Amino acid sequence: MAESRPGKKRRKVTTKSLLKMKQEGQKITALTAYDYLMGALLDEAGIDVILVGDSAAMIIQGKDTTVSVTMEQMLYHAKVVSSGVRRALVVADMPFMSYQVNPDEALRNAGQMVKESHVEAVKLEGGESLCPTIERIVDVGLPVMGHLGLTPQSIHKFGTYQVRATDPEEAQKLERDAVALEQAGVFAIVIEKVPASLARRISERVEIPIIGIGAGAGCDGQILVTHDMLGIYTRFKPRFVRRYAQLADFMKDAFERYAKDVRSGDFPSDDESY
Ligand code: KIV
Repeated sequence: MAESRPGKKRRKVTTKSLLKMKQEGQKITALTAYDYLMGALLDEAGIDVILVGDSAAMIIQGKDTTVSVTMEQMLYHAKVVSSGVRRALVVADMPFMSYQVNPDEALRNAGQMVKESHVEAVKLEGGESLCPTIERIVDVGLPVMGHLGLTPQSIHKFGTYQVRATDPEEAQKLERDAVALEQAGVFAIVIEKVPASLARRISERVEIPIIGIGAGAGCDGQILVTHDMLGIYTRFKPRFVRRYAQLADFMKDAFERYAKDVRSGDFPSDDESY
């Protein structure tokens, strides 16, 4: 699919080219995908980073949180997404409890993710305490993306999806976590739902790219959940989501027209039959 479009051939995105983009002041674009077709469309549109998010639990499985998604399910999503992508860097979320028990287990699971699904990096949620695990994974040559701020896998600890790091102590901790993750070797950090001034300060302080979601314009790039920005997932809409389409309405209208045509006998016509 990606090869079928004419036009300028763009270079493969790598962890190194993302760093160069930051150095050159070029904003990084990132969106999520859970299946082959969405991965291919995002890639054709020139999105730089495609995240196979554990938001699959909510978007694909209809769950209220990301906590329950399994390694097996994430492997499946990561495999089908990466099979449709040629240019973008594909990153897979490691599911809850696949990397928290100990660094050895985390390394084994991260290795399985990359070997079997052909993604190029994994994303882990957490700060300073996760650094030994990150170092272990990075040490074998496997790129890791960090995730700070609102970390949805910890929802039952915090009990809410409210904006994080609004008080100075939590803001300082988040900044320390970002520096620690950089030192542990992550190639980029997603920072979710924190004050814009804090995310900007961190982006200016660290050399690696900061990809924001609900973290303001001072980040080095932006990520959204694709089904949110397309208006397909409509159970709730955080303030940071900009809707670029209202596909749920569009799709429902198409389904209703199809049902009407089938019921009336208008579909299929002679031209649509053999
Ligand atoms: O799982 C996901 O979709 C994410 C994004 C919100 C960054 O982690």
